[in-house]
Amino acid sequence: MGFLHSLSLFPFLLVFIVSFSWPITSSADIYGDFLHCLSSSSISNLVYTQMNSSYSSILESTIHNSRFITPTSPKPWVIVTPLHVSHVQATIRCSKKHGLQLRTRSGGHDFEGVSYISESESPFVIIDLANLRSVQVDVENEVAWVQSGAIMGELYYEIAQKSRTLAFPGALCHGVAFGGYISGGGYGLLFRKYGLAADNVIDAEFIDANGRILNRKSMGEDLFWAIRGGGGGSFGIVLSWKIKLVHVPETVTVFSIRKTLEQNATQILHRWQYISYRFPDGMYPSITISTTNTTTQGGRNLTVVVTFSTMFLGRANELVSLMQNIFPELGLTSKDCNEMSFVESILALGLLPNQNLEILQDRNYRVSFLLATPSFKTKSDYVKKPIPEIGFQGIWSQLFEPEARGATLNFVAYGGKMDEIPESAVPFPHRKGNLYKISYNIRWREEDNVNSERYIAWMRRLYSYMKPFVSKSPREAYVNYRDLDIGKNNEDGFTTYAQMSVWGRKYFKNNFDRLVKIKTKIDPENFFRHQQSISPYFG
Ligand SMILES: Cc1cc2nc3c(=O)[nH]c(=O)nc-3n(C[C@H](O)[C@H](O)[C@H](O)COP(=O)(O)OP(=O)(O)OC[C@H]3O[C@@H](n4cnc5c(N)ncnc54)[C@H](O)[C@@H]3O)c2cc1C
Ligand SMILES: *[C@@H]1O[C@H](CO)[C@@H](O)[C@H](O)[C@H]1NC(C)=O
Ligand SMILES: *[C@@H]1O[C@H](CO)[C@@H](O)[C@H](O)[C@H]1NC(C)=O
Ligand SMILES: *[C@@H]1O[C@H](CO)[C@@H](O)[C@H](O)[C@H]1NC(C)=O
Ligand SMILES: *[C@@H]1O[C@H](CO)[C@@H](O)[C@H](O)[C@H]1NC(C)=O
Repeated sequence: MGFLHSLSLFPFLLVFIVSFSWPITSSADIYGDFLHCLSSSSISNLVYTQMNSSYSSILESTIHNSRFITPTSPKPWVIVTPLHVSHVQATIRCSKKHGLQLRTRSGGHDFEGVSYISESESPFVIIDLANLRSVQVDVENEVAWVQSGAIMGELYYEIAQKSRTLAFPGALCHGVAFGGYISGGGYGLLFRKYGLAADNVIDAEFIDANGRILNRKSMGEDLFWAIRGGGGGSFGIVLSWKIKLVHVPETVTVFSIRKTLEQNATQILHRWQYISYRFPDGMYPSITISTTNTTTQGGRNLTVVVTFSTMFLGRANELVSLMQNIFPELGLTSKDCNEMSFVESILALGLLPNQNLEILQDRNYRVSFLLATPSFKTKSDYVKKPIPEIGFQGIWSQLFEPEARGATLNFVAYGGKMDEIPESAVPFPHRKGNLYKISYNIRWREEDNVNSERYIAWMRRLYSYMKPFVSKSPREAYVNYRDLDIGKNNEDGFTTYAQMSVWGRKYFKNNFDRLVKIKTKIDPENFFRHQQSISPYFG
């Protein structure tokens, strides 16, 4: 059945037949056999080979980092875009049968592109879940089922159609997809009140390396634990998630206040570290740091600008009196505050101001100030004791270096609910004792990719400068802010436990060992793998 299904298969069929007479299969044979396997599963119309005119546009459709759109970036042999669970099963089965590596992509936001780039010598296939994106919101029971290919904005939009007081603790950025996001924990505007997205998952539909479809009950609590924060691409493919919705007031308040160095930004930021983690859990206190030109009588001067932004689950007058009490240095007044619904706060703080809610469903919409897809490098750190002012001065001098024009630092206060959830509840371990998380970002234009190494070197210098001020043994990092500098697997060889522990403990602390045990049980052949996936261990 389906053997002579399509004429376009004919050349591959020939290769297929010829290969019987050869003792060793060549890569052309594998290629043909693989395509044949897919076509006998009747999914040829969802398979894009490099010969297909849409191949590049499908490949690049969700590449969010132009660092990985270069002529030398490794390209997949084939991209499969399933419309149905059975297509996912067929792709797993055929890839496994023909020894091809499979990369799972939902929204393509991975900072190192591991969902669509392989550094291995062997060919690979991308399974792109963008079409598996249904969102079903059950307002009465306050739950939803979301498929992994759906983006945050699609859920926010659906909820907003039905309720002003229900929400989900998802990402601020509307384009991030559920597949990778929940797999790595997932924080956002509500995480200090309700925990991570992964803390709010109650069931999941999962496919393992043998193509079995499992739910929470049939997969068991170990695997169900691992997929909620153990990092994407290690255990199998999560098709959909059952999530708990949470309550928000009808009106929330948002502000953003900018302070330059001349306006005492350093001192105010220094102070922020001592109090922000103790702010009420209905607040999302965050900081963005970048450089800007100020115009003075004498001409132009580069300065650092620190933007203090907050979403608050309450009214403006309440927020103003609160801040005047605990953080008078900021000088917040009611003029700085804007009241709105929760979903509008996603637009306001997610850099989509003055847009209609419909924009939330647009997965191709790129935030305006980025213009096109930039190239970037990101790293993360956790801060457990306040950084002295002199420490910030050192950051400022690095920000004044010429490479740093596209650099931003983001701080997000921890505390609240994050302090109450035990480190071992889900694999994401960064809980009590963190004042805030830092992400360091540097961006450049795609045309400037020839200078990528200069920008990345700048980032590594800053990261090395920060060492005395941040968490130690391990120096913790957030798996959803993937950074291959902190260690990676030998994709074509054996990765030792010690080697894997280096990055594994930074992301997962003591949860790492349990993740390895679960991986060894569910996928002993290491079918699901990438540069920084959990490997099985048989020691
Ligand atoms: C602009 C931007 C904003 C962001 N904002 C936030 C934020 O507010 N909060 C936050 O926590 N993070 C944020 N992130 C980080 C984001 O959570 C991670 O990059 C996340 O992994 C992206 O998921 P994805 O499905 O879009 O990415 P992908 O690149 O598709 O996947 C990421 C990883 O998960 C694996 N994976 C994908 N789908 C599945 C699946 N269905 N089953 C199993 N494994 C899978 C992939 O193989 C890969 O290893 C942001 C990233 C960007 C680029
Ligand atoms: C491959 O390309 C052809 C035209 O070049 C197109 O008709 C066909 O639908 C494409 N395959 C897929 C899966 O889109
Ligand atoms: C900065 O702080 C100094 C010393 O506390 C103070 O005198 C000055 O007025 C502040 N400047 C601004 C712009 O707030
Ligand atoms: C500041 O101005 C200079 C000179 O006009 C320009 O080259 C530089 O890019 C500007 N820097 C920023 C951060 O805008
Ligand atoms: C630029 O900054 C330097 C150092 O802070 C200062 O001495 C100088 O007066 C400033 N120039 C202008 C034009 O503001």
